[in-house]
Amino acid sequence: MFKRTVLLTTLAFIFILFPVQMAYAADCLDCHQGITKNWQQSKMAATVSCVDCHGNRHTNASNADLVQRATPKVCASCHPEQVEQFSAGKHAYGFDALAVVPNYHAIPEVAAEAGCEGCHKVGYNWPDGSKGRCDSCHARHTFSVAEALEPEACGNCHSGDHPQYNLYTNSKHGMFYAITADSSRYPTCQTCHMVDGNHKAMTAWGFIGYRPPSPQQNPGDRRILEQIKAAITEIGPAKAPQVYRTSYAEWETERQQMLTACTQCHAESFAKERLELGDKMVLESSALYVQIYGLTNQMYTEGLIDAKTKNSLLRNALAHRFSAYMGAFHGSHEAAWDEGYLALTDDLIKVRDTYTQLKK
Ligand code: HEC
Ligand code: HEC
Ligand code: HEC
Ligand code: HEC
Ligand code: HEC
Ligand code: HEC
Ligand code: HEC
Ligand code: HEC
Repeated sequence: MFKRTVLLTTLAFIFILFPVQMAYAADCLDCHQGITKNWQQSKMAATVSCVDCHGNRHTNASNADLVQRATPKVCASCHPEQVEQFSAGKHAYGFDALAVVPNYHAIPEVAAEAGCEGCHKVGYNWPDGSKGRCDSCHARHTFSVAEALEPEACGNCHSGDHPQYNLYTNSKHGMFYAITADSSRYPTCQTCHMVDGNHKAMTAWGFIGYRPPSPQQNPGDRRILEQIKAAITEIGPAKAPQVYRTSYAEWETERQQMLTACTQCHAESFAKERLELGDKMVLESSALYVQIYGLTNQMYTEGLIDAKTKNSLLRNALAHRFSAYMGAFHGSHEAAWDEGYLALTDDLIKVRDTYTQLKK
């Protein structure tokens, strides 16, 4: 009882002498010890307090519902630039993207929550209207720049159908970064995708590998691009907001930005050629996919396979198409060839054989 009185008197003193915030911060630590371990590592700990992000309405175990969530809107009061950049990029659309995919609504809630949302909450839609979770790459409560600059900070989500982390670790860049830990010599994800710390995540081709045709493009390329657009749209993700750049000019702007990233270390001609190699892989793997798509649909229309088999065949082939160009862009020869182009040619042979057999 005595201890409590002393404590309360001391607190009252602090309350009078110091800003309200500090008193609340001390209170918070009483109940949230675990958080403190990380928070003490944060550069913000010296000047920012718990209440700056969580408000001062929740003060004890019975009013946790009054707590303020630390949304990007809250961060924006001190970091407007990063929030603005983030909002202009793809990450901010992560949650909206889920809504357009029929499969997301069809699967059990637990699978959506433990799966899709775990990664897509990078673009969470908050009740205050702000979008995104800043604690995706800056784990709370260290909110560290040093940690966010490591490729592992992206690896939790850029795996699976879009295995950029695995592709990167398999590339010469990634392998030598692993040896040296020197990102001024060997690039990390952030070196290429967050030049000058820019929080706008956006690429030229995007996830699905489509761009509006350019005026100069040869008719063959144009046809493949139109066919792939039609084929992919049926799968679902192509309906996601900002899924590809809306004009060729916009595509070029993103490409130019990437070229700037490469020329931090390479000759421009070398980098340009390597990027164009990736472009060719998008077109070549799309041409194969379009054939697989045509045959699979024919089998379905003729009643030889059901919708589930059709989707399964297309899904496999699509993953191999992703692997082919994502591998080429990220310098993973294994992904570009073994799990990419080679696997796609195999898919085509299998679909052809299945068709011949079923028609008999
Ligand atoms: C007397 C103990 C106590 C104090 C003091 C306290 N909290 Fe809490 N807090 C809780 C409890 C209990 C919950 C409910 C969730 C749980 O079971 O941990 C909670 C929940 C929260 C949550 C939401 C967790 C979630 O995801 O639902 C945040 C954020 C939070 N507290 C921050 C603070 C801050 C900031 C302060 C200081 C202003 C503070 N707390 C003071 C006990 C306390
Ligand atoms: C720079 C902003 C910021 C500050 C300062 C901050 N937090 Fe948080 N905190 C966050 C973010 C972001 C989240 C995740 C979003 C949310 O739930 O609000 C979070 C979540 C939490 C949670 C729930 C999740 C969990 O891991 O248990 C608790 C509890 C919490 N904070 C307590 C605290 C305490 C205690 C302090 C002070 C020592 C503090 N926070 C300071 C940003 C902050
Ligand atoms: C009340 C103002 C304030 C709010 C709100 C705030 N910050 Fe900060 N933040 C700061 C200050 C001040 C620094 C600089 C600390 C230093 O360099 O000494 C900082 C630094 C940072 C850094 C750099 C840390 C490093 O390792 O260099 C990150 C990342 C960061 N904040 C993220 C966030 C996020 C995410 C949010 C919202 C969840 C947030 N901040 C909310 C004031 C704030
Ligand atoms: C392991 C993390 C992860 C899981 C799980 C995941 N996604 Fe994704 N998703 C991503 C990433 C990362 C991208 C962006 C890939 C890229 O640009 O190459 C993406 C892209 C998408 C896109 C295209 C968005 C666009 O505009 O490029 C849609 C739609 C989508 N996911 C829906 C889903 C649905 C629905 C589920 C669950 C059935 C799901 N995702 C599960 C990480 C994940
Ligand atoms: C995709 C990963 C990622 C996300 C999501 C992310 N950050 Fe960052 N952030 C980084 C990286 C990487 C750096 C270091 C950039 C550099 O120095 O080149 C950084 C740096 C920062 C800094 C320090 C800037 C400086 O000049 O010292 C602040 C502040 C910051 N981020 C705030 C935020 C806020 C606010 C959000 C949410 C809107 C956010 N970050 C979301 C990866 C991320
Ligand atoms: C050496 C530079 C470089 C590094 C390192 C790098 N990327 Fe990329 N990334 C690219 C290029 C080039 C593209 C294709 C850009 C375009 O569309 O023109 C790309 C495309 C992407 C895409 C869009 C889909 C795709 O794969 O084509 C995502 C998402 C992505 N990268 C994430 C990452 C992540 C996460 C890491 C680290 C694990 C990473 N990247 C490392 C250069 C890099
Ligand atoms: C919490 C999960 C998560 C983390 C961590 C994460 N991302 Fe993403 N990333 C996504 C999702 C989901 C998308 C697709 C968003 C959408 O649907 O619009 C995406 C999209 C992207 C894109 C846009 C590709 C395009 O379509 O043009 C780039 C580039 C990217 N991420 C790079 C990074 C880098 C670099 C890091 C680490 C510094 C990182 N991401 C960390 C989940 C994440
Ligand atoms: C931070 C510096 C840095 C950046 C940025 C960078 N690279 Fe590299 N890159 C290197 C180094 C160093 C090597 C290893 C040199 C060697 O091959 O011996 C390398 C190797 C390569 C290789 C393999 C060459 C071979 O002979 O196997 C390719 C391809 C490549 N880079 C393309 C790119 C592209 C494309 C970009 C931009 C999207 C880029 N790099 C960005 C430093 C960088």
